[in-house]
Amino acid sequence: MTSEEIERAAQLLVEGGLVAVPTETVYGLGAWALDPVAVARIFTVKGRPAGHPLIVHLGSGGELDRWAAEVPESAARLAAAFWPGPLTLVLSRHPRVPSVVTGGRPTVGLRVPAHPVALALLAALDRLRPGDAAIAAPSANRFGRVSPTTAAHVRADLDDDVDMVLDGGPCAVGVESTIVDLTGERPEVLRLGGLEIEDLARVLGEMPVVASAPDGDASAGARAPGMLASHYAPRAQLLLVEPAGDVAARVAAAVARGADGGRRVAVLAPEAVLDLPDDAIELEPAGPPEDYARVLYDRLRQADRLRVDVLIVVLPPRGGLGDTVRDRLRRAATRTSP
Ligand code: TXA
Ligand code: MG
Repeated sequence: MTSEEIERAAQLLVEGGLVAVPTETVYGLGAWALDPVAVARIFTVKGRPAGHPLIVHLGSGGELDRWAAEVPESAARLAAAFWPGPLTLVLSRHPRVPSVVTGGRPTVGLRVPAHPVALALLAALDRLRPGDAAIAAPSANRFGRVSPTTAAHVRADLDDDVDMVLDGGPCAVGVESTIVDLTGERPEVLRLGGLEIEDLARVLGEMPVVASAPDGDASAGARAPGMLASHYAPRAQLLLVEPAGDVAARVAAAVARGADGGRRVAVLAPEAVLDLPDDAIELEPAGPPEDYARVLYDRLRQADRLRVDVLIVVLPPRGGLGDTVRDRLRRAATRTSP
């Protein structure tokens, strides 16, 4: 990544182009947030319904009051503690934020990404448009599909529909940001993500309400439009297995069921599963929750590349990033249509 590339990307943004940007969570499909026409193109390229708001990425927490109409004390505290980082704050929208960005809502999602390339791009944009540097960016995948965690994933999904892809290597966190809504009586987590709820609670001094409980009703997450039950889905059918008990026996039974139907079966687990049947494909183990989160989307894409029909997934244990991984896997396993 050269500084010329960053400058060219910033120039593209002010000219209305779309640039894929690496962040620590997943790659984003970015447009200059103050260009409603470019932002509208994001929705077209992604095939995303217009009501689904985009996250606005900023260069620093000090810019919050330029993009939010009101900055509650809790927002300043969370920003100081976790930005740059995998946390999105939903605040009341500043009137300068185009309504196409927020899906017509009175609120705006804001975050400062912890990735040197994203921050360099925001700094370059700020040199071209002082005080106005903000990038509206959803994950750089087609609607409903698995978020990209490498530049190659972005290219595979979006081809020529993106004007430039900045390659910042594989994402370190690997799952999307945690979203907290601070516009209500109590902080409410709208999406589990890369920042652990336990860390949030420590800084907030209270346990936030969680709209989308990891093992609860997936539709409860509909407060953040786009958090549909069926989301983050690979083509393979997913069978989820709890890590408790005799994992090997349960996996073997699930493999036998899948293989009975003449289907191609693969297994993804935190650790190697002993005594797998020969006809099952074993994906490289995902490791403990933090590693699991980092490699999850790549493994789901790998299953599709291997033309797997049934992917048996041993879940990570509950708690911390384990809850986020479980949330995404539950959504990936949910089909609204066959
Ligand atoms: O880690 C991330 O958050 C990545 C990177 C690129 O920053 N972005 C991402 O964007 O995951 P996207 O568009 O795929 O998901 C954004 C989620 C959606 O579920 C959307 O509904 C929610 O954030 N959201 C954004 N603004 C909101 C708002 N004002 N109120 C409620 N939900 C909001
Ligand atoms: Mg997304």
